[in-house]
Amino acid sequence: MGRVHGKIVVVTGAASGIGRACAIHLAKEGAKVVLTDVQTDKLNATVEEIVSNHGVAIGLSHNVAAEEDWDSVMKKAVATFGTVNVLVNSAGIGNKTDTIEEWNRVLSVNLTGSYIGMKHVIPIMKEAGGGSIVNIASLAGLVGGGFNGYAASKGGIRAISRAAAVDYARDNIRVNSVYPGLIITPMTEGILHHEQMKKHFEERTPLPRFGTGEDIAYGVLYLASDESSYVTGTELVIDGGTTAK
Ligand SMILES: NC(=O)c1ccc[n+]([C@@H]2O[C@H](COP(=O)([O-])OP(=O)(O)OC[C@H]3O[C@@H](n4cnc5c(N)ncnc54)[C@H](O)[C@@H]3O)[C@@H](O)[C@H]2O)c1
Repeated sequence: MGRVHGKIVVVTGAASGIGRACAIHLAKEGAKVVLTDVQTDKLNATVEEIVSNHGVAIGLSHNVAAEEDWDSVMKKAVATFGTVNVLVNSAGIGNKTDTIEEWNRVLSVNLTGSYIGMKHVIPIMKEAGGGSIVNIASLAGLVGGGFNGYAASKGGIRAISRAAAVDYARDNIRVNSVYPGLIITPMTEGILHHEQMKKHFEERTPLPRFGTGEDIAYGVLYLASDESSYVTGTELVIDGGTTAK
């Protein structure tokens, strides 16, 4: 039996990178997965990949910054599978916030998007008798090194994750956050072609390689599963040793 057998899981940002790896691994371990993203072609390709490997999955077009989209995603998930046991908030955008418009956009996708998702899933989880929320933050939310909206959004995710963990613990809803180091995905792969930046990240990371979506998916799998039933409000750093230095 899979580690998350029978659990109904919603994964945002599931068309690409970390969200995609999480959706694939959760499905492999027996979850029924609702994949959501704004990139519908890539999303559908991931759903097809899961289904052709005997997994159970549907894909929904979803802008996480829009509350009405969250409303329809949750309604569709419940109508299709009966409830939602796990929410993985992975949708996110990068760190260029030179203008206030860009600052607001990064905050609205990364932080507000995660917050609205939690707000919409908590009543469903309460009714189901509990659940697990996993928010993908970043090292940028833990340590200094980027004076921008991305760091603010990820620090905000850290704060609301801990706050919700405390507020909803008695409802048996666990809320944890994950802090990836440099993970090679479409968001970051440009770094590999930029010698100076690549060298910077190589020197920053004690383990002699960069991370993969799979490295994060294994942590998310643990937090989504009942193996972590006594774990809430925790901050799981998966960074090849970067913050240990
Ligand atoms: N890759 C890294 O090194 C790294 C490190 C730390 C944290 N993270 C975080 O991990 C998460 C996933 O990033 P990734 O590296 O897989 O990037 P990615 O670009 O490969 O995937 C992000 C996904 O989010 C989707 N998305 C963007 N805006 C959206 C919106 N408004 N609504 C719905 N979906 C939207 C994109 O379409 C994309 O499929 C992000 O929250 C990112 O901040 C990544």
